Amino acid sequence: MKSYKIAIIPGDGSGPEMLREGVKVLEAAAEKFSFHLDFTEFDYGGNHYLQKGEVLPDGAVEELMKYQAIFLGAIGHPEVKPGILEKGILLTLRFELDQYINLRPVKLYPGIETPLRGKGPNEIDFVVVRENTEGLYTGSGGFLRKGTPHEVAIQESINTRMGVERCLRYAFEYCRERNRGKKLTLCGKTNVLTYAFDLWERAFQEIGEEYPDIEKDYAHVDAISMWMIKNPEQFDVIVTDNMFGDIITDLGAMIQGGMGIAAGGNINPEGTSMFEPIGGSAPKYAGTNTINPLAAICAGGMMLDHLGEKEAATAVEQAVMSTCSRNIRGLSAGRMGYSTEEVGDLVVGHLRAMQL
Ligand code: IPM
Ligand code: MN
Repeated sequence: MKSYKIAIIPGDGSGPEMLREGVKVLEAAAEKFSFHLDFTEFDYGGNHYLQKGEVLPDGAVEELMKYQAIFLGAIGHPEVKPGILEKGILLTLRFELDQYINLRPVKLYPGIETPLRGKGPNEIDFVVVRENTEGLYTGSGGFLRKGTPHEVAIQESINTRMGVERCLRYAFEYCRERNRGKKLTLCGKTNVLTYAFDLWERAFQEIGEEYPDIEKDYAHVDAISMWMIKNPEQFDVIVTDNMFGDIITDLGAMIQGGMGIAAGGNINPEGTSMFEPIGGSAPKYAGTNTINPLAAICAGGMMLDHLGEKEAATAVEQAVMSTCSRNIRGLSAGRMGYSTEEVGDLVVGHLRAMQL
């Protein structure tokens, strides 16, 4: 029997509750599709930081590299200054494990309400490929004369030819394999960011020549934000840099029903990837058994797909879709008509009942 070594980081706030349901569904999928998941838990997060004074212990990255994937709940603690855990855990892992792709599907499932009038599951189904190790996220820059009236703050966007090319290539391949609209839209700002997106655009055209079957499209990030609301059906796959990807995927999460369902993968195709619900740790709901676990469950499904368990991944997605269309009333915490645990059980029920 095939076996996969998975690291789980439940994290802070509602992270552990969400992840528990994700693990439950993954275990049901493993049983149904005859493979084994070997989970090891790591307690990194706000509590670990407050107790030990370190975000990640020495050797944590080397240890995590030994796993085939990481399944993450959420990071963020009300008693820890913003930025410490985000940078010290989430961004450190993305960078150190070279997870250079952040893959974020924006898909509206039947039964889920979108705030976009007149749009349904047929119109809202695209994927954002976000570059995940460069751009404004590298920490390049600094202060000059900090704290004085003459202070200067510089935050630089780093775009390497290698980093941009590998992201674009991934996006073209993904678009081809997805085999839906066969259209890749580069999201940039070539009218203002004339260095960074000049490089992106040239690389896009050059690499695009190797993909004659894919339609090449370009739009500025501000225009994309508009089109995502007005005509989301025009998108198939969108590729963009780290910062723009961060912003437009929150917009995407809203049109697919909210943070309760939005999942993402931090992917290193040659190394250890990490899958997570993209919403925060929602500390307000911690321990209340009311938070929606579907985003974590969807992230688990993406992890199975990444590991090569395609049928199991599809089944998890189908089970989530059944839960959305047949059971739950809404996606926000406390408005589902079921508890966190019950939603996990519903997904497991649909999964077990599925005919193969
Ligand atoms: C995300 C988050 C992170 C990001 C934060 C928490 C550092 O917003 O995964 O989108 O900006 O990438
Ligand atoms: Mn974000």
